[in-house]
Amino acid sequence: MTTSYGAEFWDQRYGNADGFVFGTEPNDFLRTVADRIPAGPVLCLAEGEGRNAVFLAQRGHAVTAVDLSAAGLDKARELAAQRGVTLATEVADLSRYTIAPGAWSGIVAIFMHLPPALRRDVLARAAAGLRPGGVFVMEAYTPAQLAFGTGGPKDAALLPTLELLRAELPGLEFVHGAELERDVIEGGGHTGRAAVVQVVARRPAAND
Ligand SMILES: C[S@@+](CC[C@H](N)C(=O)[O-])C[C@H]1O[C@@H](n2cnc3c(N)ncnc32)[C@H](O)[C@@H]1O
Repeated sequence: MTTSYGAEFWDQRYGNADGFVFGTEPNDFLRTVADRIPAGPVLCLAEGEGRNAVFLAQRGHAVTAVDLSAAGLDKARELAAQRGVTLATEVADLSRYTIAPGAWSGIVAIFMHLPPALRRDVLARAAAGLRPGGVFVMEAYTPAQLAFGTGGPKDAALLPTLELLRAELPGLEFVHGAELERDVIEGGGHTGRAAVVQVVARRPAAND
């Protein structure tokens, strides 16, 4: 069975937390690949409390952060203000959020764990949302993470493999695709040895 973690779950988690559940520093993988994202607007999907969006805004991108949790995005704007940058934020379920086609230099999905049908749909729309030369960045837990118990959903259906992501990102060139174990120490919510999948995938440009 696929478990659903909805707005109420995330609003409570973010609203009741002492501080930021996933910290205020960006995801480690995103930090190492951020220079692959060309100048221009970036869309952060399922962005929660905004640590990745704020980091990308500090790098000069105009960033839109989307999440179904209003409490999370309130904290994202608070973090942005503390860091002297601004974000556009949209409280929306990704099943109903329109990803403008061909609009984004970068689309980022960090620990976005969606039910399979929604993930397929969102990833197809994300691939179409990139400008030529635009880059998609994702890190997520894989099903192997269930053995570690250091964060992420307890439902294997929400945890993608690299093989699935390759199939679900049509038309993109994989610059980097890996499944690996690494120490994920990102707030109290993600903490310890973990099994992850990482993707950097680029929409080909006409002059390639
Ligand atoms: C593990 S958190 C990751 C947050 C953020 N990307 C980070 O790395 O700190 C997962 C996020 O996915 C969001 N989310 C889950 N399902 C969603 C959906 N259907 N539409 C929009 N956001 C969703 C949750 O609200 C939550 O903020």
